[in-house]
Amino acid sequence: MNLKYLFKEYKYYKKLGGLKNIFVKFIFSKTPLKKVVNSSFYNKYYSNMINKKSKKSNTKFLQIENTNLCNATCVMCPHVSMKRKKTTMSFEDFKKITKNVIDHEKIKVVIITGFGEPFLDKTIVDKIKWLNQNYPDIKIDIYTNVSMLTPKITDKLLELKIHKINFSVNGTEKVYNKIMGLDYEKTKEHINYFYEQKKKLNKKFPLTNISLMIIKDNEAEIKKFINFWNNKSDSIMVYIPSDWAGKKKIDYVSEIPFKKKRWPCPALWQFITVDVEGNLIMCCRDYESIIKFGNLLKNNIKEIKNSNKFKDLQQKHLDFNFSTPVCSTCDNAYDSSLNWFN
Ligand SMILES: C[S@@+](CC[C@H](N)C(=O)[O-])C[C@H]1O[C@@H](n2cnc3c(N)ncnc32)[C@H](O)[C@@H]1O
Ligand code: SF4
Repeated sequence: MNLKYLFKEYKYYKKLGGLKNIFVKFIFSKTPLKKVVNSSFYNKYYSNMINKKSKKSNTKFLQIENTNLCNATCVMCPHVSMKRKKTTMSFEDFKKITKNVIDHEKIKVVIITGFGEPFLDKTIVDKIKWLNQNYPDIKIDIYTNVSMLTPKITDKLLELKIHKINFSVNGTEKVYNKIMGLDYEKTKEHINYFYEQKKKLNKKFPLTNISLMIIKDNEAEIKKFINFWNNKSDSIMVYIPSDWAGKKKIDYVSEIPFKKKRWPCPALWQFITVDVEGNLIMCCRDYESIIKFGNLLKNNIKEIKNSNKFKDLQQKHLDFNFSTPVCSTCDNAYDSSLNWFN
């Protein structure tokens, strides 16, 4: 790994306040110490810690799908074959749902993104403004394919309080259109404008990340990608895509090199994931909203979290029973367990 990029990544996590976590992840999964992770001493220590942490309410993230409409056709995204109703959440419903959750949980971050392009939602600026005004301490993160991020929208966004924006750019010149079905020139223009304006206004936030998922089609372009975007963003992330709990066939470059023991999934404690119709679903891997725990337009968040259905799933995980649909085939399970440390 190039030291220059490692240092950049380090600086980015430091800015995000997550330095401890990045070190834990780095030490346990990328060095010879990884063997320690499967030792009996570690397993005992980790089990005790999960049992303790799972008893406290530590829900920090609310992920809310403001729209599930999309204008792209990314080959590694389940959106292309997703069958559930495609629509946009109204401003009124967004307010009701976020208020329902934030007023009763210790939410620190709201991620306004689901299975769709968030900026196809014409009310997104109003939604962010409303959160800024009513919950000024809450951080807002957004993932976008950049296509709708015109200078006009960027100017509006730079007036708001947003913590982080992820620009999903999954290829370079030759393969970008094949992979995402979008116009690369427009993407470059939009990111350049965002970068220049942010610099001109001397703003530290929103932090930006440019992400690339590695598949066979873009493998040859990784270096080019990093060199090209290196100075246009606070960070760059290159990663191996998920197969959406076994539902999406991906043309991988290589297998995930190191699989740890499977642990209870921290997402069931740390995240509230809400689909475009207000259903509280299991996690972001359940793109068809197969497992619904209740609807936040009708039920109070506490009522849903205290329901037998929700508690049973958490207990199953604590008992190392991962037989629930989606969990049984989830590929995220091995990577995310270290988030219990967070
Ligand atoms: C589902 S998209 C929705 C937001 C927006 N449309 C976008 O592309 O950023 C959210 C993120 O998931 C990523 N994504 C898509 N397919 C993926 C996969 N198979 N594994 C991991 N991440 C994936 C996208 O690149 C994007 O960064
Ligand atoms: S990754 Fe984002 S842009 Fe691409 S199809 Fe999925 S939702 Fe749309």
